[in-house]
Amino acid sequence: MDKEMQHDDGDDSWVMKYFDNIGNSEKVINLGIGEPDFDMFEPLKEEAERVIRRGLNKYTMTAGIVELREAIAEAYNGRWGVDIGPDNVIVTPGASSALFMSLASIIRPGDYVVIPTPSFPSFKALTQILGGNVVEVEPLPESDFQLDVGGVRSALREKSVAVILNSPTNPTGTVIDELAFSEVVDLCRRSGAYLISDEVYERFVYGVEYTSAAKYWGEYDRIVIVNSFSKTLAMTGWRLGYMIVPQHLKSRVIRLQAYINACAPSVAQYVALYALKSSEVQKMIDEKVSEYWRRRDVLHRALNTHGVSVHLPKGGIYLFPRIPLPIDSETFCNRLAKEAGVVTIPGKAFGKGGEKHFRITLSASPERLLEAAEKIASFVERARSN
Ligand SMILES: Cc1ncc(COP(=O)(O)O)c(C=O)c1O
Repeated sequence: MDKEMQHDDGDDSWVMKYFDNIGNSEKVINLGIGEPDFDMFEPLKEEAERVIRRGLNKYTMTAGIVELREAIAEAYNGRWGVDIGPDNVIVTPGASSALFMSLASIIRPGDYVVIPTPSFPSFKALTQILGGNVVEVEPLPESDFQLDVGGVRSALREKSVAVILNSPTNPTGTVIDELAFSEVVDLCRRSGAYLISDEVYERFVYGVEYTSAAKYWGEYDRIVIVNSFSKTLAMTGWRLGYMIVPQHLKSRVIRLQAYINACAPSVAQYVALYALKSSEVQKMIDEKVSEYWRRRDVLHRALNTHGVSVHLPKGGIYLFPRIPLPIDSETFCNRLAKEAGVVTIPGKAFGKGGEKHFRITLSASPERLLEAAEKIASFVERARSN
């Protein structure tokens, strides 16, 4: 099931709805689901078996096993030259839970959260569930969805408690450049708002410079980093993510974790630790990223050749084309699913600036993606001539 859609208007998942309508046949190409199509790596399955046999099946410390928190801190420190401690890391059941707990520890009812859109729908939904107000900031016009820093500046107001950045962005694939990132950190510093940085696609970057909020860790003490093993290790179902929080926020988050989750899944924690320490697994991740890079190029070229205009995303696992017909994104995706058997997600699900687009996940072989591009193109042609 596609997580994004579960949050849309509290309605059922789009993907499930499409499958109800069109049946789950071989012919259907499902490019709606927001997860990698490859299986969890073999060495990780073997490690999971060993962990289970060793009897590591019980609760762990609330914040997660020390070795994993140390390994996460080391990975960030090694890359960004900062001094995140294992005490700053809290391992969570997925980034979803980390997002909820970071927002719950920051927002009081009536507060404002600034969210550049189009964005992962949970940001808005969680803020609203917690009684907060959302201020959406649309991307710079005609910019292929570049972050509008001036828009963030204007959106910040007295009761703004957080800005949520997500780079690479779901669904646009935007990689926020260093200048824009540092300007947002600066705006947060001046207004006292937290910067929540969702970095779940950090490995999926295609030949451009990537900036993490970790770079500013020593400069501002209201930075929260959210990350996940879901996408990089293709273990979305194992529910493992983490957050990196400043010391002053820790007791609040630990309290939430203790009463909501008790801890993150124990076996998944040991598996993730193995993944971080294993050069073999790290190489496997790099190979998968190269594969996604290739898929991005293949589908980008095919769609544009077929007259479906799409920008080249610099990261992430999605393409976000313009809808080449004078219909709204929901009608387009419904019809595309029913009439062409290609499941995608309407852009309107991702907030302001998303309408007039649809999201395609690159979770299929290049051959299958080419087949999808052809189906989309002939659907558009048929729709135009009717
Ligand atoms: C931007 C973003 N953040 C967080 C998540 C949730 O990830 P997890 O499976 O770790 O809860 C997703 C999943 O699609 C996502 O796209």
